[in-house]
Amino acid sequence: MSVDVEQRAAQLREQLHHHGYRYYVLDDPEIGDDDYDRLLDELRAIEAANPELVTPDSPTQRVGGEPVSSLPKVQHEIPMLSLANARSEEELRAWVARMRTHLAREGIEDPQFQFVAEPKIDGLAISLRYEEGVLVRGATRGNGEIGEDVTHNLRTIPTIPLKVDDAPPVLEVRGEIYMSLKDFAGLNERRAEAGLSTFMNPRNAAAGTIRQLDPRLARERPLSMWSYGIGRVDGIQFKGHWEALEWLREHGFRVNADVRRLDSDDEVVAQCLAWQERRGNLDFEIDGVVVKVSDLELQRRLGVVGRDPRWAIAWKFPPTTKVTTLKDIMWNVGKFGDLHPFAVLEPVHVGGVTVKLATLHNEEDLARKDVRVGDDVIVLRAGDVIPQVLSPAPHATERPDRADAPRPPEHCRTCGTKTVKPEGSVFTKCPNQLCPERQWQLLKHFVSRGAMDIDGLGEKQVGQLQQAGLVRTAADFYRLTPEQLSELDGYAAISARKIVDNIAASKERGFGHVLFAIGLEEVGFVTGRNLAQRFRTIDALLAASAEEIEGTPGVGPKMAQRIHEQLAEPQLRALVEDLRAVGVSMALEGPPAGEGPLAGKTFVLTGTLPDLTREQATERIEAAGGRVTSSVSKKTDYVVAGATPGSKLEKAERLDVAVLDEAGLLALLP
Ligand code: IVH
Repeated sequence: MSVDVEQRAAQLREQLHHHGYRYYVLDDPEIGDDDYDRLLDELRAIEAANPELVTPDSPTQRVGGEPVSSLPKVQHEIPMLSLANARSEEELRAWVARMRTHLAREGIEDPQFQFVAEPKIDGLAISLRYEEGVLVRGATRGNGEIGEDVTHNLRTIPTIPLKVDDAPPVLEVRGEIYMSLKDFAGLNERRAEAGLSTFMNPRNAAAGTIRQLDPRLARERPLSMWSYGIGRVDGIQFKGHWEALEWLREHGFRVNADVRRLDSDDEVVAQCLAWQERRGNLDFEIDGVVVKVSDLELQRRLGVVGRDPRWAIAWKFPPTTKVTTLKDIMWNVGKFGDLHPFAVLEPVHVGGVTVKLATLHNEEDLARKDVRVGDDVIVLRAGDVIPQVLSPAPHATERPDRADAPRPPEHCRTCGTKTVKPEGSVFTKCPNQLCPERQWQLLKHFVSRGAMDIDGLGEKQVGQLQQAGLVRTAADFYRLTPEQLSELDGYAAISARKIVDNIAASKERGFGHVLFAIGLEEVGFVTGRNLAQRFRTIDALLAASAEEIEGTPGVGPKMAQRIHEQLAEPQLRALVEDLRAVGVSMALEGPPAGEGPLAGKTFVLTGTLPDLTREQATERIEAAGGRVTSSVSKKTDYVVAGATPGSKLEKAERLDVAVLDEAGLLALLP
């Protein structure tokens, strides 16, 4: 290979970087698409003939990566925080006042705030890590502490630089991945034409794409990124957030051009209202404005409360409503057989998404609202919540030919069983325990987060498995084979094996999770855990009287009675036996509550520990017989404080409660 070829490849890479940046980031191309493609083709040809010349930051590397078999977890070095909300001008001003009070206590009187106001993009947060200027890893926010490695998909996004000139040795850039409204509409149109399901909204489309294993999907779906901050950075000291944004902009990242620096609450309020006005004219969805204190030293002094920085706030736009026609009222079956009314609507665009279905909550609510089939109704969508029907439109109730008030069906829409309305219940019910829709809800709940948490199984897959006759009760999941799964639509051989592994791993999720997962009325996650703590094994729980169950924290007499009744039902017993037979663990390990070295000791966790996540620390403390609670009182024995602790640490100091760091906690553990 001649030096010339090597030089030419480097030159092409430079040119392509430059023109890609002009086109995607600045939206201001200097050359036409054909010229760009010609340069890219030439580089591809050189790289094909000389594979050793391919660099990870080459523009050819945006496409065609290999599928990955899983999304490894990534621990964020600096937690990715969330934001407190302000819903009115008063709340926004109160936030500024709170910061002043806090800083005054720190000895800073009358701080001169500079604020930065940015659109709050309705997408998903990610973190990009660059080493020596080359993108080495991209991860989702996840729970803020731990996200997932989605580098393979992020590389395909043209507004994400693969390399950064004059970069510090380590740089972490944060921002939001989103799909523009135009691209979203185009994607859904293509999917509908191809007979595929369409996405609910741009955010779902973006989030669903980013977590795919095969990057070819991401490449075909038009995603984009707005950068809004820097996480870890070595070797550059920024004065403020504003300067950090400027630096990002100068180094090839896409920063919104309408981000403003402001000097007073009045200016901030005016800017928030201005964004609210513009909201409908943007080509991407925003659900508010993020206001941040720029000065990084002030940010540090202000610190974090829980997961929210004191120095930033999200101004949330008021919910959006629209009027449309109620075409039908239908009733779905919940996991306990209760019928829930929902509205079938003439599709309507509300707050950036098309709404076709909306909840009507329950019969009482439906009667109170007095909406009828054929009425024009007011539909509300607020942020992330499920769209709901608020009321009839003002004149709808005066129509002479108005339909009768809706009533729950006499027969279940799925299994045809005659419905019943038990004494004292607000719900009409499908009494058939084997109703497929009811089972679907139960199975969906079984695999969900917090329950058995089986990655790769969601409502669609559960429905598919049910219809294929492979899964009837939850125990059937554990009998699935990779071969059975790979015969179904949408399961490549690798993913089928992976899902079977995930299912098997869930056998050890823990007794508390199982009690929540099997779907007992009244038993949420916390009660499941408390029951597990108290009874230790499923056999002890099944043998317990209602009175004994009542001794569990948080369980009153009525609830205990209801739990006891359900545990006696033959079908539940059969499920438990079946789960036992397939090897699901239903006993707690470690000493019972009240035994172990930390017996009787109460802990509160605050801030981010260097090594343990909050869940891990809780598990370790509980395994040693201790208890973890959420608020500090005189009864608290220890507060374990990590980086950026919240007000709990202040309270501990005030109440003279012992404060430990992670090392101190580890020293107490066996
Ligand atoms: S800053 C201060 N800036 O909002 C730390 N977040 O509620 C919080 N978001 O997870 C992040 N636009 O997904 C920030 N300009 C913006 C944002 C933004 C959208 C999202 C982000 C984050 C969530 C926090």
